[in-house]
Amino acid sequence: MLKLAVCVSGGGTNLQAIMDAIDSGAITDTSIEVVISNNKDAYALERAKAHGIHAICISPKDYESRAAFNEDFLAQLNSYHVDLVVLAGFLVVIPEQMIKEYRNRIINIHPSLIPSFCGTGYYGLKVHEGALARGVKITGATVHFVDEGTDTGPIILQKAVAVQEGDTPEILQRRVMEEAEWKIMPQAIDLIARGKVSVVDGHVKISE
Ligand code: GAR
Repeated sequence: MLKLAVCVSGGGTNLQAIMDAIDSGAITDTSIEVVISNNKDAYALERAKAHGIHAICISPKDYESRAAFNEDFLAQLNSYHVDLVVLAGFLVVIPEQMIKEYRNRIINIHPSLIPSFCGTGYYGLKVHEGALARGVKITGATVHFVDEGTDTGPIILQKAVAVQEGDTPEILQRRVMEEAEWKIMPQAIDLIARGKVSVVDGHVKISE
């Protein structure tokens, strides 16, 4: 059984896609042990509770220093003994010590085809604003392992999505979620649950 912690900050549609895929059997042999939000008002917390999943809030704002937050975040995560940490729209920088202890055991979804429109400052709608400002015809989403950089870790899955005439950032965001994010995030978790994913020389290998 692959045990997950899912970290969220907002609406939680990717969390919903993961919960639905576990229920339907599209993700095999996996359970969500805890949902962690940095934002007590995140709708994702309601989605977790409605699904009977244990959900907690850990916010940097409630700590004296970033170091104190980082230490407690890691201690609380460790207490759930999970195999994989899933960042599903989590907008907090992951502490370095956590990256070390969970090497190739933290995955993130990013709403573009990395290495386009990623890195510091590119999150949420800003990614789609950037894609529209540049006039790209194809965008998409990427699931990758988290390393010390911002959106620089080994890429697991990507899916392309067409930009259409008249797209606004909101319309494009929704299409990227529907056509790419809600598909490749559950797929990546299922591949990991089935032991199909390894990292060799910094690149992901997916076995048959
Ligand atoms: C998603 O589009 C996700 O790709 C993005 O935040 C949104 C969260 O939506 N993540 C990032 O931009 C990370 N850099 P959700 O809360 O409905 O899943």
